[in-house]
Amino acid sequence: MKKKYDLLIKNGNLISHNGSTITDIAVNNGQITDLGDLDKRNADSVFNAKGLTVLPGLIDTQVHFREPGFEQAEEIETGTRGAVLGGVTGVFEMPNTKPPTDTIENLRVKIDIAEKKSWCNYAFYIGATTNNIEELHQIEKSPGCCGVKIFMGASTGNLLIPDDSNLEKILSNVSRRVAVHCEDNQRLEERKHLRESDSHNHPIWRDEDTAYIATKRLLDIARKLKKRVHVLHVTTAKEIELLKLYKDIATVEVTPQHLTLSAPSCYDNLGNYAQMNPPIRGEEHKLALIKAVQQGVVDILGSDHAPHTKENKNKAYPHSPSGMPGVQTIVPIMLDHVSKGNLSIFNLVDLMSYSPSKVFGLINKGRVAVGYDADLTIVDLNLKKSIANDWIVSKCGWSQFDNFKVTGWPIATIINGGFVMKEGELLSKPENKQFKFFETMQNN
Ligand code: DOR
Repeated sequence: MKKKYDLLIKNGNLISHNGSTITDIAVNNGQITDLGDLDKRNADSVFNAKGLTVLPGLIDTQVHFREPGFEQAEEIETGTRGAVLGGVTGVFEMPNTKPPTDTIENLRVKIDIAEKKSWCNYAFYIGATTNNIEELHQIEKSPGCCGVKIFMGASTGNLLIPDDSNLEKILSNVSRRVAVHCEDNQRLEERKHLRESDSHNHPIWRDEDTAYIATKRLLDIARKLKKRVHVLHVTTAKEIELLKLYKDIATVEVTPQHLTLSAPSCYDNLGNYAQMNPPIRGEEHKLALIKAVQQGVVDILGSDHAPHTKENKNKAYPHSPSGMPGVQTIVPIMLDHVSKGNLSIFNLVDLMSYSPSKVFGLINKGRVAVGYDADLTIVDLNLKKSIANDWIVSKCGWSQFDNFKVTGWPIATIINGGFVMKEGELLSKPENKQFKFFETMQNN
């Protein structure tokens, strides 16, 4: 006879909206149906989470999975496999593929692949181009779309909106929050001669002002038009000071790379493998970003998982591409920051679960509460492990965090009530993985 609960997670320390509590969590048909001291005789299956910490499913809102077009570096299957092995329950994927995700048809191609192959929840950004500005307001409302992405400075791929006039047109035409890569393209062009010899010059070419100028241009336009923007991978102390003044319209993302690595040691140790856009900068910027996390100026942590093959990374700078992987390591790296006291576990839940769900308007995510989807990341806050390249399943086959010793590790990834990863083993792919958003609800 079917019992009252499909799954009961017993005795875990739950970190959620109402603090930290030892509680049992009951799951039925993919949703959380009860919390409290619950009888295990009522459950078909029981997971003993004693000594473990249970978090609402952690979401990575910035990944590049390269499919279609650059499958030698990543596919949706391998990227999402890395996500769940690393304790991530869902991803928002970027549009700079080949072809780019710039039409409903190209969005559909990715959704079709993800429906069959994704290991976790997913949604896709639509890339703004000078050719799709008029249609963006329709495309952004498509199911499976998390919003529009703008590249103000050229990076991997050919998506680019370098000028204020098109930026204004795009922001005027859309209604959802727009995610933006802020580097001033004119300044990048003017300073190209600085890209000499090796990757130590990367943050000199793409300097602090390159980021600041673009961020300021974006914020002024957004405030004038009363539009919401999400400033991706913020890297400078000066941008943080500015962004504090724009909390009415702008949310802020930082990456684990910019919180963990700094120049010049990252380029001494990793060379082109530390090359990304916007670049890893000096220690003073890293410390300013950590403080911005502690003070709540940062809204979201995203990995900017941007894998490139070793063959391409080994090309002589500046012919080497920018970007590093990160979807599989974001949780262990950030748990290690928790263990070091750089942020609390409550901060982490806010930055990777509650806030993504609030900022992007996700339905039924971001809380462990009755009636919400049973997406959970279960972690051991005390487990000490080393990150190693042979654990990384990304097709690129490397991590900038190879050999990093961390305290804190993901033990299980539960999506829609089912274990997708348990103690490092992959189990079955979840059903109904497409994220739903309030702003696309009429079209779902
Ligand atoms: O370093 C980066 N790599 N920054 C980006 O904006 C794009 C990314 C990629 O797709 O390779």
